[in-house]
Amino acid sequence: MQYIGIDLGTSSVKLLLMDGTGKILNTVSKNYGLSFPKPGWSEQNPYDWYNETIEGLKDLTKDTDKEKIAGISFGGQMHGLVILDENDEVIRPAILWNDGRTGDECAYLNNEIGKDKLTEYTGNIAFTGFTAPKLLWLKKHEPDNFARIKRIMLPKDYIAYRLSGVHCTDVSDASGMLLFDVKNRRWSEEMCDICGIDIAMLPKIYESYEKVGVLKKELADELGFPEICVIAAGAGDNAAAAVGTGTVGEGMCNISLGTSGTIFITTNEYKVDSHNALHSFAHADGSYHLMGCMLSAASCNKWWVSDILGSDDYIEEQKKITALGDNRVFFLPYLMGERSPHNDENARGAFVGMSMDTSREDMSQAVLEGVAFALRDSLEVAKALGINLTKTKICGGGAKSPLWKRIIANVLGLTVEVIKNEEGPALGGAILAAVACGEYSNVKEAADKIVEVVDTVAPDKELSEKYDRKYKQFKKLYPALKPVYSMLSE
Ligand code: XUL
Repeated sequence: MQYIGIDLGTSSVKLLLMDGTGKILNTVSKNYGLSFPKPGWSEQNPYDWYNETIEGLKDLTKDTDKEKIAGISFGGQMHGLVILDENDEVIRPAILWNDGRTGDECAYLNNEIGKDKLTEYTGNIAFTGFTAPKLLWLKKHEPDNFARIKRIMLPKDYIAYRLSGVHCTDVSDASGMLLFDVKNRRWSEEMCDICGIDIAMLPKIYESYEKVGVLKKELADELGFPEICVIAAGAGDNAAAAVGTGTVGEGMCNISLGTSGTIFITTNEYKVDSHNALHSFAHADGSYHLMGCMLSAASCNKWWVSDILGSDDYIEEQKKITALGDNRVFFLPYLMGERSPHNDENARGAFVGMSMDTSREDMSQAVLEGVAFALRDSLEVAKALGINLTKTKICGGGAKSPLWKRIIANVLGLTVEVIKNEEGPALGGAILAAVACGEYSNVKEAADKIVEVVDTVAPDKELSEKYDRKYKQFKKLYPALKPVYSMLSE
């Protein structure tokens, strides 16, 4: 049997075809646009996601025996607000995870409803990218659109809905809506009341590895897939990536270097960070996780190399970087504001420390290091909670760079385990489909059998010490610039 994983990302949809043993048979990627209608806003058109997904499914399976395709599942960009009217038409473009327009709504939720109540109801506080503050924003700024809402869903769930006709979501993605009682894995009626929505507008909740339905007949005919092709709930992209990197079981860690950067730590029991700097979410294997999320990670490097330097040769740009640990330039990677741990939608990118002898390489290096330092900020929060990590998996576009992996290992003081396939969420999606179809009895068994570590990058004592000193300096930069960011936002 064969299984398809669909990773509905921010810059593209990546599709992966896997056989029952976990062997990857094909991968395909289709790009779509992202629009920033105002500074700090970020939107996408769900119809683009769907059209590119269907084209991707056709390309992915053109040379395979389609009768063998038993199941499809997902990893999807989290938190995005997709709203449908009574005719199943998309009411407005989706407001994405890295959209910062809801500062006032978050202030209302965190200060007036209060962080304690939010934590009691959901395990989390409000961050601008989360879904509930977007509903409050819509209610105030687009009341006509708000009044038309019949169904609320997350990005990957829109694809699942179009493929199966089932209005569904999974526990890991639902966790990021601030409408979900993470501990008890059910919707929070209190949060629905606060947002002025009817609980019936929300999708039915599934565990990530559960079957929600089968492919619609007309699509099965169009794609040539069997009519009994299972659609499984899937997971938010970070939980799917964790499955795809084998980050399943207590106390494991995965770092994702995609458009966002995340550090994902598994916990068997439900845990909350008392300062709410890390998110407390459900995992795709039936357990829980803590996660720090930075809004711009590999996207900082893409912005710097492609938009600013005007190059598309990332390898060449990194070849000239040799002086690790000795850079006097710092980069603050807050191009879309920052989520973990600062929770500041007004934060912005900055280079600090240049002098007349600063070179292009120093600045390119500072970008890679700035992302690593910002990930360490979240790791430090985890350490303060008593979580002791020595190693991590890694995935995402940025993980393709050996230099960046070395910087991450030394800045975070963790051994980086390199896996055979670093495209975490798409593989995770395919694994979840295989579990839903009964190919494996649970997610752990599947991940243990399928995911292969092929190399490790251990921190080097001297370099880690140098980076420790640099990190102490980096840590002082955001608090110093905070008043400036706030002034610039006026
Ligand atoms: C996680 C988050 C991002 C998106 C990226 O909380 O917002 O990692 O899921 O797709």
